[in-house]
Amino acid sequence: MFEIKGHDLYVEQIKAVDLAAQYGTPLYVLSESSLRSNLSDIKANFMDKYEQVQAAYASKALLTSAVVRIVEQEGFHLDVVSGGELYTARHASFPMAKIIFHGNNKSDEELQMALDYGVGRIVVDNVGELHRLAAMAEKAGKTAKILFRITPGIKAGTHHYIATGQKDSKFGIALDESIIFPAIEFAIQSKAIDFLGFHFHIGSQLFTNDTHIAATKVAVSLIKAVKDRYQYEIRELNTGGGYGIKYVEGDTPKPAAYFTDAIMESLESLCKSEGLLRPTVFIEPGRSIVGEAGITLYKAGAIKTIPNIRTYVAVDGGMTDNIRPALYQAKYEAIVANRADAPSDETVTLCGKCCESGDILIEHIPMQHIEAGDIIAVFSTGAYTYAMASHYNKHPNPAVVLVSGDQSYEIVKRETYEDLVSKDVIPAHLKA
Ligand code: LLP
Repeated sequence: MFEIKGHDLYVEQIKAVDLAAQYGTPLYVLSESSLRSNLSDIKANFMDKYEQVQAAYASKALLTSAVVRIVEQEGFHLDVVSGGELYTARHASFPMAKIIFHGNNKSDEELQMALDYGVGRIVVDNVGELHRLAAMAEKAGKTAKILFRITPGIKAGTHHYIATGQKDSKFGIALDESIIFPAIEFAIQSKAIDFLGFHFHIGSQLFTNDTHIAATKVAVSLIKAVKDRYQYEIRELNTGGGYGIKYVEGDTPKPAAYFTDAIMESLESLCKSEGLLRPTVFIEPGRSIVGEAGITLYKAGAIKTIPNIRTYVAVDGGMTDNIRPALYQAKYEAIVANRADAPSDETVTLCGKCCESGDILIEHIPMQHIEAGDIIAVFSTGAYTYAMASHYNKHPNPAVVLVSGDQSYEIVKRETYEDLVSKDVIPAHLKA
């Protein structure tokens, strides 16, 4: 919930400039009501609409202990992809039975952690992992509930770094008969494995549902093949996330229901015509849940006009708190939070403060007049920003603040310079 009242941008009932003054900049700001409304939209239009469906939040988009609590309260499962994400979930008392554990290269330590914690589902990415997991579960006297992540061979229409469903992918098991069927057979026979079904994730920031429909079709053929070959009924199908959001004018995001209705419709009709029981369906969006619920506040610093070329406005953050423009040429919109109602009649390039020419946040953006000290708000930065932050040039990571109505809470503290050196060790012979 972000709106302009008078000269100011508000986050719920608090002025953005007041947040900047209280917590400093750069600052990640998350609106609790916006986050909750994205979650409840999925609840109302998917979880409450269909039987045998579940939704997970893909925590890689933004994971903090407070976010875990909100996701849990709203009745979601949680997708984690590493020991660190799993640890954070448990630290925030998330029920382990509702964890979906992903990863294309899970270590023995991570698999053991998943078994010890009792996570609900492990999504097995490759055949080697299957055999390691089965041996570990057997040794521990446990049964691991698994899905296979399959590579459906569908190319999503998005940046190639975030397309994952095409045949040549580091994710998932190829649908080659000689690879997938022996794995399935092993999973069915192994006493240490409870084989629930399949998972696919075809890519991220998608605006059309055709690739989800195509992948669903591929999954149903596989479910049918498993039934015919092994008389084994697949119980679950996880269709991943990928629902796009609005970053800039011209982006055409669709509500989650546009994707989920299409998946459910195609699944129900395909299962019917193939004589299959419709499996329980999971979805696991990340970006569409947190992306538009977050903004980043920066303070404008050096302003440099290069005659006849452009004006650079440098902010006090950059690629260390948002790598997406540098990595994916991602586009964003921004305003001057303390002059939000003024006309956007000056075109500038917002750059960061890292020693890197590619550290440009937004190129050639029409903005309100900017002076040093102004607070600049960049929109739709809830997903994959804090989550991908780095310490390049030894910049401490910004704080994350949650705004609920007229209250604000620092849910991740700003890093200090001491934090930056807290893991450094000087061997005795180098001591000053
Ligand atoms: N499930 C799986 C297995 C995934 O790999 C992903 C994202 C998701 C769910 C959630 O996708 P979403 O709904 O957020 O699109 N760093 C990139 C995005 C990488 C996404 C990786 N996997 C970015 O900043 O655009």
